[in-house]
Amino acid sequence: MPNIVVVGTQWGDEGKGKVVDMLAPHVNVVARFAGGNNAGHTVVVGREKYVLHSIPSGILHPGCRCVIGCGVVVDPGSLIEEMEALVRRGVQLDGNLFISKNAHLIMPYHPALDLASEAKLGKRRIGTTGRGVGPAYVDKAARVGIRMADLLNERLFREKLELNVAQKNRLLREIYDAETFTVEVAPYITDTALLLSRWMEAGYSVMFEGAQATMLDIDHGTYPYITSSSTTAGGACTGTGVPPTKIHGVVGVSKAYTTRVGGGPFPTEMTGAIAETIRARGHEYGATTGRPRRCGWFDAVVGRYATRINGLDTVALTKLDVLDQCETLKVCVAYRHRGETLTDFPEDETVVAAAEPIYEEIEGWRAPTAGAKNEADLPAKARRYLERLEELIGTRFCLISTGAQRDETILCEDSPLTRWFPSVRSSLM
Ligand code: IMP
Repeated sequence: MPNIVVVGTQWGDEGKGKVVDMLAPHVNVVARFAGGNNAGHTVVVGREKYVLHSIPSGILHPGCRCVIGCGVVVDPGSLIEEMEALVRRGVQLDGNLFISKNAHLIMPYHPALDLASEAKLGKRRIGTTGRGVGPAYVDKAARVGIRMADLLNERLFREKLELNVAQKNRLLREIYDAETFTVEVAPYITDTALLLSRWMEAGYSVMFEGAQATMLDIDHGTYPYITSSSTTAGGACTGTGVPPTKIHGVVGVSKAYTTRVGGGPFPTEMTGAIAETIRARGHEYGATTGRPRRCGWFDAVVGRYATRINGLDTVALTKLDVLDQCETLKVCVAYRHRGETLTDFPEDETVVAAAEPIYEEIEGWRAPTAGAKNEADLPAKARRYLERLEELIGTRFCLISTGAQRDETILCEDSPLTRWFPSVRSSLM
């Protein structure tokens, strides 16, 4: 049974949720491997709307087991809110939710440090979600972090907390809050790396659900304007304890244009009326913070980079319909920097910040794409746009999404996705 990683190829919010929801019924396990409750994912099932931040959305599919891997940082308060909301709506958590003993905790002082650090940075601020994700990973790397397993050992937990509280000059009152968390989450804390290994031996199929995206990766993103975890495909291994030899493929998720929330370089950023139009048509507001997203043209330099860094087998392209009314579309094929043409994404942050996009213009199709059942139903000019993107990023598409609904999805012919999960086709009929 295939074990597949799903990652964002841009700066997040590519629509990974829709792809993960679509594939969840076809796998046995969904494992989150990075990030924390900075991610936001709204799922609509019938009339019910669920907002999930830490728990994989696979939890809404009966029989799908969900793992929060060691690479994730967990805010227990936020996790419990999510758990309670799910239980209230009849979702079965027992036997379906497993949290790694080694996942680090976001403690109450982490959001406070996050906000203080942002305030201090002034105009160089990252534009974080303010959830304390960065400071929690700082403690992890500094080897003073508190892990889920510590909640199960009161003495050790107190020792570590006192050390941290002393360091961070916070009140001991927080110990008692943490005790309340322990009661609720303890039954779910386990050795998830061992579980995943046993499940894979038993022939279960695992989907590794990425959070954030390639360009926000701590090593490969636009540092320092990144999140603090390994959001690229390699993170699926370190963030769950599953070896690379057990992973069969990687699916990238990309928007038909680009967005970014927070600060940092964004070479293809749009300005003026077109940015407003795309933001309105694409409902481009953050799922966690509600902030308006910055909008830009498709950046094929970023797309090629994501293909290389993640070893993408295929890409799911989302939100094509948002471009339906554009007269002309721009696609960035390379960057210009000090008279040089760059076709590979530059590692030097000063070069990225100063890079000017070199655009190719493509005629818009000015016709609706939503509801198209296969590629042949799309307007010819839309097909041309898609073919050009595939050529530029060096990866074929497996799926084209033309709306939020499940049936607003085109499965491309002969893609790795339908080879891995042949039953996906019938579930979209
Ligand atoms: P942090 O992850 O809260 O530390 O924020 C660091 C950067 O990552 C900021 O630019 C955030 O806007 C961005 N970021 C974090 N989570 C997401 C997400 O789920 N979607 C898009 N951007 C995100």
